[in-house]
Amino acid sequence: MVGSGTARCGEGGWSSGAAPDEVHGSAEESKMSRIAVLGTGEVGRTLARGLRGLGHSVCLGSRSGKAVEGWDGEAATFAEALDGAEFAVLCVKGTAAEELVTTLAPRLAGVTVLDTTNPIAEAAPTEGVLAYFTGPNESMMERLQHAAPEARFVKAFNSVGAGLMVNPSFPGGTPTMFICGDDQAARRTVAEMVAALGWDVEDMGAAAAARAIEPLCVLWCIPGLRDGRWTHAFKLLRP
Ligand SMILES: NC(=O)c1ccc[n+]([C@@H]2O[C@H](COP(=O)([O-])OP(=O)(O)OC[C@H]3O[C@@H](n4cnc5c(N)ncnc54)[C@H](OP(=O)(O)O)[C@@H]3O)[C@@H](O)[C@H]2O)c1
Repeated sequence: MVGSGTARCGEGGWSSGAAPDEVHGSAEESKMSRIAVLGTGEVGRTLARGLRGLGHSVCLGSRSGKAVEGWDGEAATFAEALDGAEFAVLCVKGTAAEELVTTLAPRLAGVTVLDTTNPIAEAAPTEGVLAYFTGPNESMMERLQHAAPEARFVKAFNSVGAGLMVNPSFPGGTPTMFICGDDQAARRTVAEMVAALGWDVEDMGAAAAARAIEPLCVLWCIPGLRDGRWTHAFKLLRP
């Protein structure tokens, strides 16, 4: 089912005109056109607007495919959103991600997937520390890569709140986004996109690095869950 919006899935490459969330980079810099954003929560809607602001054609995917509040562009089911897309952003609830990716695996073959998900368990946080359903020597993204072996997963944007993902502005300078994934070309593509959305990118290499990057979300959330402070981001300082 296709929801009401400004354009149909698959139409056009670069959009002209207004960019609702203006960003630092240009469409030419990020070299991509058609993007399936899989997830309609705060992350999905924020990144959909940010990527459309870069000039991409974006389709927002969900279970129902219905129109999404807070998004006036194209909407479709998860599977329909992937039609013809070479790039996807995965932003569904962590507990649902593996099953969804397993179902979508044939459609994800060859697709670069920017994976924002975190393996947050249903259990309540302890002293502001979130519980994960993965252990220290594994990661959500490695499970997803295993579930869809022909997809090209790259972890990014999991370690900051949605409200800061597009064009973050801090007096201390540009914050750092850590990325990783097994496919080097896919990491390069994602790095360009993340940089175009206003971040310094640190490429941590293969998918196993998600074992370190995913827990950054736990750390990031502690000031929020303990004291209601959600407006920070990480920065890697160098000599
Ligand atoms: N919120 C943040 O600031 C933030 C920051 C960094 C990373 N993340 C991570 O990004 C992901 C998205 O977070 P969010 O807060 O935007 O939204 P969310 O509430 O965690 O997830 C919403 C999305 O999950 C889908 N979903 C829920 N249950 C499902 C199921 N059983 N099967 C298939 N899909 C299901 C929903 O589908 P429908 O659209 O069909 O309802 C919806 O699109 C999460 O993994 C989260 O850990 C969040």
